[in-house]
Amino acid sequence: MLKDQITNLKTEAVGEILEAKDDSELEKIRATFLGRSGKINDLTKQIPSLSEAEKKEIGKIINEAKTAIEEALRQTQDKLLVKKEKVSDWIDVTQPGIKPEQGHLHLITQAIEEISGIFSQIGFHRSRYPEIEWDWYPFGGLNFPENHPARDDWETFFVEKLYHKKYGKGLLTPHTSSGQLREMESTALPIRMLNIAKCYRRQSDISHAPMFYQFEGLVIDKGITISHLKGTLDYFAKNFYGKERKTRIRPYHFQFTEPSFEVDVSCGICQGKGCRACREGWVELGGSGMVHPTVLKNGGIDPQTFSGFAFGWGVERNYMMKSGLKIDDIRLLYNNDLRFLSQF
Ligand code: FA5
Repeated sequence: MLKDQITNLKTEAVGEILEAKDDSELEKIRATFLGRSGKINDLTKQIPSLSEAEKKEIGKIINEAKTAIEEALRQTQDKLLVKKEKVSDWIDVTQPGIKPEQGHLHLITQAIEEISGIFSQIGFHRSRYPEIEWDWYPFGGLNFPENHPARDDWETFFVEKLYHKKYGKGLLTPHTSSGQLREMESTALPIRMLNIAKCYRRQSDISHAPMFYQFEGLVIDKGITISHLKGTLDYFAKNFYGKERKTRIRPYHFQFTEPSFEVDVSCGICQGKGCRACREGWVELGGSGMVHPTVLKNGGIDPQTFSGFAFGWGVERNYMMKSGLKIDDIRLLYNNDLRFLSQF
């Protein structure tokens, strides 16, 4: 009987649906029973040969069977979905974990640590002085005349409305030499200072950053001479750049040292022979000199009894020279772009 056939098909379909393991099996079952040429539609082909009363009854039974099969499909689909979610929530505690990405100190922080370590071996202690200073410490007290170009707005960031009656305008330290007088004022002799600090200048191009670091050495004692300066420079160059490296000093001019020198280190590429990178076999590191007697006096130290030397170099440029870092713009160091920084 058609009625029984329909009931059997429904039972068969629901049975298969309950056994289904995934969505694709369910889809196949749907096609087999409910599809256009599926088993239920096959049975409906017999309807036209039935009496009017039977047509009504069978039509109703077919609709009920379809609804039951569809409902079973829906419920099973929901169950499979919940199961899938549970599987992805499951944690295998024996599996090796995912290692978090390890960062590293910024390149310049690494360089600062290395430089401090090298100088601490020969008795230099690290000092810190204000980044916002009075004109006296980086300029006036260091022998800079009133009209010196470094005081010009083009070079120095002055802080508006900040003014000290005795020490002059407020500004952002343009060089770590501002620490020289601060050290003389606050530390008992002999002095062996290493002042590493941020400096600010109105400069921004591929070899100048508006904020950069300098490291400044200051030694003051009885009988300090240029030989002590040269020995210290050689010691640093050999420890920072490599044993085979040498330094040389060339006459120069700074307001606060007399005599003053530019310091060069032998080129690491050609070992001082001369190459395309250095031309003459030497690369420039920074300034140095013997502390000017006026500066000693300004710091309350008697230049007849004491003498000293100082040097001040850029951390970024020294680090770039040491590592052979081929970066074509110094400002990249401070752009905080992890794609750049994580290469090192
Ligand atoms: C000075 O700043 C002197 N105070 C150095 C000094 C100290 C001389 C003690 C004598 C005794 P100079 O302006 O040349 O000198 O700067 C020194 C170094 O700082 C430069 O060689 C360079 O390495 C670095 N430097 C200067 N300006 C910038 C800048 N805008 N960006 C990055 N590095 C800079």
